[in-house]
Amino acid sequence: MMRWFLDVEPFRRDPLQFLLDRTFGFPEKLEELALGPRTHYLVTDPKLARQILKSDEDFIDKGRLVRKLRPLIGKSHLTISGEEHRKRRSVLHTQLARGVANRYVGAMSAVIRRAAAGMMRERRFDAHQVTGPLAVSLACVALFGDNVLSSGDRQILVGAMKSIEDEIAAEMFRAWPHAPWSYFFLRKRRKPALDAMSFVVQRIRKSAPESSILRSLEGLDLTDEQIRDEVLTMLLAGHHTTGTAGAWVLYHLAVEPGLAEAIAHETREITDAGGEVIPARLNDAKVSLALVREVLRLYPSAWWFSREVKRTITLAKRKLKPGTSLIICPWQMHRDSRFWEDPHAFSLDRHYGDAYMPFGAGPRACVGMGVAMLELQLLALEIAASVELSTVSAAPAPWPKPSVTLVPPDILIEIAPRETRLSQSFAA
Ligand code: HEM
Repeated sequence: MMRWFLDVEPFRRDPLQFLLDRTFGFPEKLEELALGPRTHYLVTDPKLARQILKSDEDFIDKGRLVRKLRPLIGKSHLTISGEEHRKRRSVLHTQLARGVANRYVGAMSAVIRRAAAGMMRERRFDAHQVTGPLAVSLACVALFGDNVLSSGDRQILVGAMKSIEDEIAAEMFRAWPHAPWSYFFLRKRRKPALDAMSFVVQRIRKSAPESSILRSLEGLDLTDEQIRDEVLTMLLAGHHTTGTAGAWVLYHLAVEPGLAEAIAHETREITDAGGEVIPARLNDAKVSLALVREVLRLYPSAWWFSREVKRTITLAKRKLKPGTSLIICPWQMHRDSRFWEDPHAFSLDRHYGDAYMPFGAGPRACVGMGVAMLELQLLALEIAASVELSTVSAAPAPWPKPSVTLVPPDILIEIAPRETRLSQSFAA
């Protein structure tokens, strides 16, 4: 009995360190974790992790995690499976894929420049306090189009999301099952937030451009409630993740010698005469891309996710029974010295192989990956070109805080104007 709970205390104390310690050296491909009466395995082999993520849903699916989320975010494509999931996902993918999302480069750059102007007014700020709200604005551009959301509507959405996020955080780390009646109270608690979201979504549906996600969802024959739940899901999945990663982008721009200058130079190479980034040239901006890739290796916002065995299967010579939890942890895999040289060091000179999976893999991999990469790369390009950052927080990088995403601790940044491109950036 005690054996079942052996890992609970060290895991609770410091999950990030616990996972690194447990897999130091030569871990099993499936490392058993004693986190309760149910069987949990941490998948430490990248090829096996990819095989699991690509498995047939009849054998391995998203399991309990999704069942926990459904009462909170409804039946959106994140919480459903099968044909309906595939149909909705393919529509979203056509709108969010990297090349397609490039149509918002101008609008996103403008949002980032406004945030930079705000930082300049502050002079000294906490990185995540800036990148958190910035990520909401960028996600709104990606989902609804440019200039669709009024600041009042935005406030309503942010308030509604916040209250649902608090419920999600409580739910994710809850060890014991709910009492049946608690669902009644949960539904009652989340109703004002959902009503507020419905109100905003209904209104902006009329003004969203033909090419926006909102309009493509309408083509799917969904109810108003389902459309709202899809919007809620995309906002929830899309802003915390990029907001936390964005803070680390700012941190590394501030501390890595020569990096911001190299990216400022890169920005000049890929902008037109008016100082606007040319979308088709983004792939040529290799340093900013490498920065984003390395930030997502060191601080993968979605630091773990899981799957559940549905039918008895054999994996890595173990017979796994239905109900077994399989935990995939990009945080651990990205810092495993079997796959990375000097894994805790920041380096722009790496080969990213199978062990790299900040966006997951297979049919449930992040559908917003293209947008997320675009937002973070633009953040690096626009900020490096316009301002100089330095950090007041001590190097080496502070340890992240594990929550629903991997949250940066306080990182105080100081900002000063960069001489070049200043007139273009702040005149806007
Ligand atoms: C740095 C930013 C991001 C990271 C690290 C990230 C990571 C992930 C990961 C690892 C998954 C797969 C989880 C699993 O397999 O269980 C996922 C799924 C998902 N992500 Fe992201 N994400 C990011 C940004 C975004 C953005 C910007 C959006 C939307 C605009 C988004 C929407 C989604 C959705 C809807 C899913 C579920 C897809 C499905 O089940 O088919 N994500 N994300």
